[in-house]
Amino acid sequence: MRVHFSAVPSTVIVGAQWGDEGKGKIVDLLAQKADVVCRYQGGPNAGHTIIFGGDTYKIRQLPTGILSGKTAVLGAGCVVDPEVLVGELDDYGDRGKFCLSGNAHLIMPWHVAIDQASERRLGKLQIGTTRRGIGPAYADKASRIGIRVQDLLEPKILRQKIEVALAEKNLWLERVYEADTFELEDVASRYESYAQRLRPYIADTSLLVDEALRAGKSVLFEGAQATLLDLDHGTYPFVTSSNPVASGAATGIGIGPNRLDEIIGVAKAYVTRVGEGPFPSEIESPEQEQLRELGGEFGTVTGRERRCGWLDLVALRYAVRLNGFTSLALTKLDVLSSFAEIPVCVRYLLPDGTETPHFPAHQSDFHHCRPVYETLEGWEQRLDAELPAAAQAYVEFVEHALEVPVRLVGTGAERERVLARS
Ligand code: IMP
Repeated sequence: MRVHFSAVPSTVIVGAQWGDEGKGKIVDLLAQKADVVCRYQGGPNAGHTIIFGGDTYKIRQLPTGILSGKTAVLGAGCVVDPEVLVGELDDYGDRGKFCLSGNAHLIMPWHVAIDQASERRLGKLQIGTTRRGIGPAYADKASRIGIRVQDLLEPKILRQKIEVALAEKNLWLERVYEADTFELEDVASRYESYAQRLRPYIADTSLLVDEALRAGKSVLFEGAQATLLDLDHGTYPFVTSSNPVASGAATGIGIGPNRLDEIIGVAKAYVTRVGEGPFPSEIESPEQEQLRELGGEFGTVTGRERRCGWLDLVALRYAVRLNGFTSLALTKLDVLSSFAEIPVCVRYLLPDGTETPHFPAHQSDFHHCRPVYETLEGWEQRLDAELPAAAQAYVEFVEHALEVPVRLVGTGAERERVLARS
């Protein structure tokens, strides 16, 4: 099915739940009409799977728009693992034009080691990170001791910064985490070789995007992770260390928020979560396993089993508030096709016995709330170009509850299996 989605100057695509909503596929679809595709936050913790022409592509660090031959931008708000990036450039770099912000921060080997050691140390209290060094890299950025992409332009400065950082990080690794330390020569020579490979791509990406928008080009901002993993507004501490919410596109790229025209929230027709943390609509029956198998809910990056739950409209309503979605893409509706009845969480029952349609502002309420479900009729048939009445009713139920139109519906894994609704 061809999707006719009118191109507007700028569109942000944001995961509306806890990630893995199938953003990659929606970005890939809309990227066909875009000139520039940007990532504004996160790093190789993202895992986008795109299937087309019988091939499956898994991308962690590059914007998925590179696959469509577009200008692909990694903005200042991103953290970059140069080893992963160089690998992906080897595989896909010649498909489009790639530009990397000099202000983005580098993930260094000690960030990965500290992420791993810190999760090990936390034991049962672990966050369940992707162990790619994301949190420690953003922590150094906030502490103003990070090493940036632009440091790759100056070998002497790069080496000096590695030396200064190692003096402290090695102590920390050895004494606090009882983990292996790093040799200056090893790290410096590895990063110098990445520098040689990445230098040609380093650019003023804020200016590039500004000029593209001024020239009336279409720019797509591809959020990684998702709303409920947002550092400020998500389910802290079980969050990532960046700002996936739509306004993060403006800060992460370096343009004004008034330059963002459309904001598309991508929500799965049910919910999944990887890692730890409360999850009110998590299914407690064997249907969780059934949903996981049907939806292939295993992490792209880590291979971990994703926790599965019914659609949570309380959390989605919060995502609408945080992002200002102008429309929604409801993905993987086909995964629900086997169920005779489909519960949808419409409110939370709080510990004090009251019910609320709003996401709790306090962690204890969220930790202890129970889902209040309405049960919708299933359709129990394969989804095709025309949605059966019960599937149509499911989509409309979501639209009415959230007061946001669902413009795209995912009905299968392939690139083509997306329905456009007017
Ligand atoms: P980190 O981003 O690796 O620090 O992990 C922090 C939290 O975000 C963990 O719960 C991860 O499972 C989750 N997370 C990070 N990236 C993704 C993603 O792309 N999809 C789903 N969850 C993610």
